[in-house]
Amino acid sequence: MINGVKCITGWAFGIFRRWGIAFFGGIVVAIVCFVSLNAAMEPVSRNEYCGTACHEMNTAYQSWELSHHAANADGIRVGCVDCHLPPKEEYFTHLTAKAWAGAKDMYMHHFGPEYDVETIRKKVLEHIDNETCAHCHQDLLTKSSDAKARIAHLAAQNEPDNPENKCTACHEDAGHKRNTTLYSP
Ligand code: HEC
Ligand code: HEC
Ligand code: HEC
Repeated sequence: MINGVKCITGWAFGIFRRWGIAFFGGIVVAIVCFVSLNAAMEPVSRNEYCGTACHEMNTAYQSWELSHHAANADGIRVGCVDCHLPPKEEYFTHLTAKAWAGAKDMYMHHFGPEYDVETIRKKVLEHIDNETCAHCHQDLLTKSSDAKARIAHLAAQNEPDNPENKCTACHEDAGHKRNTTLYSP
């Protein structure tokens, strides 16, 4: 009986030693990978990097600096990645989108046609959906906005697929203040 118990505990301990160590080892490796991936992505996600690494981004960067999302009384800086990538909370989607966008931008920088702000602007406008903006602006209907805004926001919430109700249809300059001399020829 005693021997039986010893045998079972010995067996259980053996399994734990073999698989437990592999299991905890796996967790440690996963944590190390996660931390280093975050550390590697942090510098290339900064506004300064996104806005200045390639000359194509210069006007986007400067017009962002002038926008309400970069310069406001509260000192909040809504970054490039907040509007141009899926939310950071969706870690893997955010990371894959970041890697894809980075690779595409690099490719276009070296091998693509001449950068045309108007063409790219239209493409970006098509891509930024209401969810991106609503991620931060969840309180639109409870705000003391004027009647026009209230009606518009109610429609945007109820019928988000209607192109007229796209946040960027009315707030095209949310991320970039375009009506400046930066954009006149
Ligand atoms: C609040 C959301 C928001 C933020 C923050 C934001 N953008 Fe944009 N971005 C937009 C929208 C909307 C458009 C399309 C309309 C337009 O061009 O203004 C756009 C267009 C662009 C374009 C294409 C047109 C062009 O100017 O070349 C680039 C590139 C760009 N953004 C880069 C950036 C960079 C770099 C940053 C950070 C320094 C940034 N954006 C921050 C919303 C945002
Ligand atoms: C990461 C959070 C975040 C995201 C994403 C975001 N915003 Fe904002 N937005 C803010 C904050 C914070 C302010 C308020 C700044 C202040 O204190 O005035 C603001 C202000 C605004 C304002 C009022 C100021 C103005 O420009 O007149 C509008 C309109 C607006 N956002 C629209 C948008 C639209 C459209 C999008 C999507 C393209 C968007 N926001 C995406 C956080 C965000
Ligand atoms: C049909 C046009 C229209 C659409 C679509 C629209 N808005 Fe607005 N929005 C307005 C008007 C008009 C105002 C009030 C004047 C201003 O600040 O530009 C406003 C104001 C705002 C403000 C400033 C605070 C306030 O309530 O006055 C924020 C933030 C904002 N909108 C975000 C959004 C977001 C996010 C979306 C998409 C879910 C959106 N808007 C869709 C027309 C629109």
